[in-house]
Amino acid sequence: MRWMSLTVPVDHAISAPPCLQVEALSVRFGGGAREIAAVKEVSLRIGAGECLGIVGESGSGKTQLFTAIMGLLPQTARTTGSVRFKGGEMLGMSPTDLNRLRGREISMVFQDPMTSLTPHLRIGTQLTEVLMLHARMDAAAARQRALQMLERVQITRAGQRMHQYPHELSGGMRQRVMIAMACLCNPSLLIADEPTTALDTTVQAQVLLLLQSMRRELGTAMALITHDFALLAGLADHVLVMYAGRVVEAACAADLFDAPLHPYSAGLLACVPRWSQARASRLPSIAGQPPDPREPEAGCAFAPRCTRAQALCSQQRPELRLHSSSRRVACHYPHDHG
Ligand SMILES: Nc1ncnc2c1ncn2[C@@H]1O[C@H](COP(=O)(O)OP(=O)(O)OP(=O)(O)O)[C@@H](O)[C@H]1O
Ligand SMILES: [Mg+2]
Repeated sequence: MRWMSLTVPVDHAISAPPCLQVEALSVRFGGGAREIAAVKEVSLRIGAGECLGIVGESGSGKTQLFTAIMGLLPQTARTTGSVRFKGGEMLGMSPTDLNRLRGREISMVFQDPMTSLTPHLRIGTQLTEVLMLHARMDAAAARQRALQMLERVQITRAGQRMHQYPHELSGGMRQRVMIAMACLCNPSLLIADEPTTALDTTVQAQVLLLLQSMRRELGTAMALITHDFALLAGLADHVLVMYAGRVVEAACAADLFDAPLHPYSAGLLACVPRWSQARASRLPSIAGQPPDPREPEAGCAFAPRCTRAQALCSQQRPELRLHSSSRRVACHYPHDHG
C-alpha cells in the first residue's frame, strides 16, 4: 500500500536535545493481585517540529502514557521511568513548574472539547484568560491575539463567536476553538488525543488539515494519538504501535504503512478503508480481545489473536529490538517483506 506523504522535512540541530524524550515509562494502578499495568516500559522521542503518531486499539495505554508524560495521573497511579522535555526531567517536577510548562510549552487537545472547555464561560473569556495567565498579556492585547487565533483556525465571524458559549457552537467549531486555545502560547509540543473521534468524517478531515497547517506555521512538535491508522497518513513522521501497554512496533510512517513488520500492525492496517473498496463492503477487524491488564504476562500479549503465532510466542515475550536502521519490532516471527 503506498501512502502519499505530506510531511515537512525537519532540520535537526545536532546539539539540541529532542523536544520530548521518554525512557522506560511504566504506569501501574492499584496493587497486589488487582494491580493494573497500563503502560509498560515505553520509550519514545519527538524531535523539534516532528509529528509522532501513536496508534492502538482501545485500552492499549495511549491516553495513560501521555497523561503520565504530562504529570496529570491521579495519585493512585505509580509512574516510573524518565520523561525529559527539552532535556529537563519532568517526572518529580514541582506542581508549580509543571503547571508553567503545561501552560506555555506543552498543550493538549482532547477527543471531546466539551470536557475541556468551561461550559458557563464565553469563548472569548476562556481564550483571553489563558493569555493573561500564561503570557501575562493585558486584557486588550489578549483579546486581540485571541481574535487573531480564532481567524487563523478559520472560525467565521470570530468577533461574534468570542461572545458565544461552547454549547452554541458545532462539534467541529468547538474542536477548532480547542486547537486555537492550545496554540495561543506557541507551544513547542502539542498532544492531540483522538482529536477528531467525536466528529463526522468531513469535519474530521478539516480538523486534521488544520492541525497540520498549524503545526507547519508554528513549527510545533506533535503527538497524535488515534486508534485509526488512516488519520496518521500524511501527518505523522514516525509511528508507534501500542498493544496491551507496550510498544510493539516503531518505525517511520512511510515504512510502516508500506510494509508493517508486526502482525498486529498489519492487522490494524488491514482495517483501514481503501478507495478501491466498495462502500458497502465490511472492513475486516482483528478477531479476539486484548488481554486483561490484571493478568500476569506470559509470552507475547498478542499471541492468542495472532495468525503467525508459534509455540515460542506463548512462552517467551519478544523484546522490542532493532530490525533495521530506523525500525524496531517486538515479534518472534515478524513479516518478511524481503
Ligand atoms: N484510574 C485507573 N485505574 C485503573 N486502571 C486504569 C485507570 N485508568 C486507565 N486504566 C486502565 O489503563 C489501561 C489503558 O487505558 P488507556 O485509557 O490509556 O487506553 P487507550 O489506549 O487510551 O484507549 P482508548 O482508545 O479507548 O482511549 C486500560 O486497561 C484501563 O482500564
Ligand atoms: Mg484514550
